[in-house]
Amino acid sequence: DGISVEELESLCVRFATEAARFIRDERPDRMGVAATKSSETDVVTVMDQRSEELLHRLIQQARPDDGILGEEGADVLGTSGLTWVVDPIDGTVNYLYEVPAYAVSVAVVVGDAQSQGGWRPVAGAVADPCLRLVHHAGRGTGAWTSPENPADRADPARLSVSGEDRLARTLLATGFGYDPQVRARQAEVLLRVLPQVRDIRRIGSAALDLVRVAQGSVDAYAETGLNAWDLAAGWLVVEEAGGVVVGVGEGAHSAPGKALTVAAGPALVDQVRTLFVGPAAPPDAAR
Ligand code: IPD
Repeated sequence: DGISVEELESLCVRFATEAARFIRDERPDRMGVAATKSSETDVVTVMDQRSEELLHRLIQQARPDDGILGEEGADVLGTSGLTWVVDPIDGTVNYLYEVPAYAVSVAVVVGDAQSQGGWRPVAGAVADPCLRLVHHAGRGTGAWTSPENPADRADPARLSVSGEDRLARTLLATGFGYDPQVRARQAEVLLRVLPQVRDIRRIGSAALDLVRVAQGSVDAYAETGLNAWDLAAGWLVVEEAGGVVVGVGEGAHSAPGKALTVAAGPALVDQVRTLFVGPAAPPDAAR
């Protein structure tokens, strides 16, 4: 319908910051770690759902013909060819414990974001309610950080990835899935990775990990098993900051997704990928 990338980007910023304000300002006081495990989890789930409902409403008011895919189950098939991919709280465990590293991720993509390949974000925003900032990008418009408050947005800061090219000097962010078997495999990989890099950070929000790569405040990020909503906005922010995001095992030109996602500057990304994938098995070791 002729909407521009810039207009989509400013919608992403508006929706993500509204939801970010909501989860910050409405965060229940009694969500502390003292409550029972199941009720804590419920409180987070309720806030997750309410944040997604808010995003859903905002998107449908502005863009009634677009699709919506959300972590909390939104799955609207649109007719326009554009789909909004939203994570209403990325970093839910941090949100639960009041560790100030969680975000709202909103992206608009072309293609089927539920498939392993073939989809691409055209605009995205990652709103950080704790720092009151929003990181955003549109395809071809660069990656920027702006204040959450629209009145202060005159002077955004441009993001650009670090130029690091040596693993031994790489500050690497990673994350872990929720499934215990997946975690066991991730821990095994770390045995090999940890001695090779400067250090590792487990920040707890994939969207903020990607933003950190874009800022150059970590050098690289790698995690297996991400979903589209975790990475859709951050992926574009990294690319527009001069970085590269690859989804290993899905072909060089397909979208990152279920397999290993690696984000870094161009001089580092292949080294990090090789580090995670491990040395190639010798031919005679096959059985
Ligand atoms: C999780 C966070 C975490 C990552 C997990 C994600 P959620 O998202 O991004 O950092 O390691 O893989 O599932 O569940 O908090 O939205």
